[in-house]
Amino acid sequence: MKKTITTLFVATCSFIPPIAVQASELPAISLKSLAKQSNIYVGAALETRHLKEPEFAKTFSSQFNQLTPENEMKWVNIHPQRDRFDFSKGDELVAFAQQHNMQVKGHTLVWHIQNPDWLTQKEWTAPELEKVLEEHIKTVVGHYKGKVKYWDVVNESFNENGSYRETLWYKVLGERYLELAFKFAHEADPEAILFYNDYNNEGMGAKSNAIYRKVKGMVEEGVPIHGVGFQLHLMGEHALSEQDLARNINRLKHLGLKIHFTEIDVRIRDNASHFSLDAQARIFGRLMDFAIYYPEIDMYTTWGVTDKYSWVPGWFTGYGRALMFDENYQAKNAFKAVYSSLLSASKGEFSYQPPISQ
Ligand code: G3I
Repeated sequence: MKKTITTLFVATCSFIPPIAVQASELPAISLKSLAKQSNIYVGAALETRHLKEPEFAKTFSSQFNQLTPENEMKWVNIHPQRDRFDFSKGDELVAFAQQHNMQVKGHTLVWHIQNPDWLTQKEWTAPELEKVLEEHIKTVVGHYKGKVKYWDVVNESFNENGSYRETLWYKVLGERYLELAFKFAHEADPEAILFYNDYNNEGMGAKSNAIYRKVKGMVEEGVPIHGVGFQLHLMGEHALSEQDLARNINRLKHLGLKIHFTEIDVRIRDNASHFSLDAQARIFGRLMDFAIYYPEIDMYTTWGVTDKYSWVPGWFTGYGRALMFDENYQAKNAFKAVYSSLLSASKGEFSYQPPISQ
């Protein structure tokens, strides 16, 4: 069932040509304005340091209406010592979001990476670690109550083969650390919308099946989980399996869960031709088609704004250029593809149907 367009919005601008243009030449009608017509938040991950660059702040605030802290709400930064929290950077990001009428998704309350030594270098008993987890989640979520509406509560609990990652949390608390985390977050802010988040979980396979089984059990048990995040760190040379994506979305939506596209980037080889940029654009655009088609998908977040600050080159040697804006803040074909999908929806001309609709 397609999303209902809140108001039929006939865009008056003709879209930017399929060549990169300066962000200042972006269409008169912003990406976020069009996305709002389809009840979708378009967002990006970033750090406070990025906002100090005027072109970054201008591009982000003019086109996006959702913010995810890339690193500054993770344990190592927000809870650096057992008895000390540091909300300074998170507060700066939330203040920017409030100033620009953006939603914030807190990232992330429980993960196995970017944890401080006081947490990882100690042998914890289960009762001790449960108490530490409860104190962390309730302090952080409580601090942002009413300001951060969405949370990545638990991040990346499963291995590719569907087994549980042997993380600190799993080893000491067992698989019920997930239920505990969601319970603590809900108790801290009953209005918050709570997600499980992972990568390589968008299709059909051992990992997404394990996640489906787990969240199905949590829903049936009445655990306050509201959605699943597909990070979508993709490669331009691998086409989307639209059939598997549709199948996975369908089974999750039948649990009453939302789906968020939480960390989209589509990396391409450094020496790749413009054909790769077109392939990248097709993936970005098709993901937005899914978001427009499924009312359950109401957040489309890229993991960064500009190629200039993307995490990809530092982690995938020989790859980069993974986002919608290049290192000079020029809108790429990926932006054009996403914009075009939203523009067609705003005009009532959206026609995409996933290969499996139910
Ligand atoms: O802040 C320190 C700085 O003080 C120090 O000088 C510098 C050099 O050592 O490191 C800085 O910390 C880095 C941090 O990013 C902030 O820039 C860490 O070394 C670096 O490991 C960290 O990388 C982050 C990565 O998660 C950690 O695994 C990336 O920026 C961030 O984009 C990435 O994001 C994750 C999501 O949270 C979860 N999903 C996957 C995604 C990509 O890995």
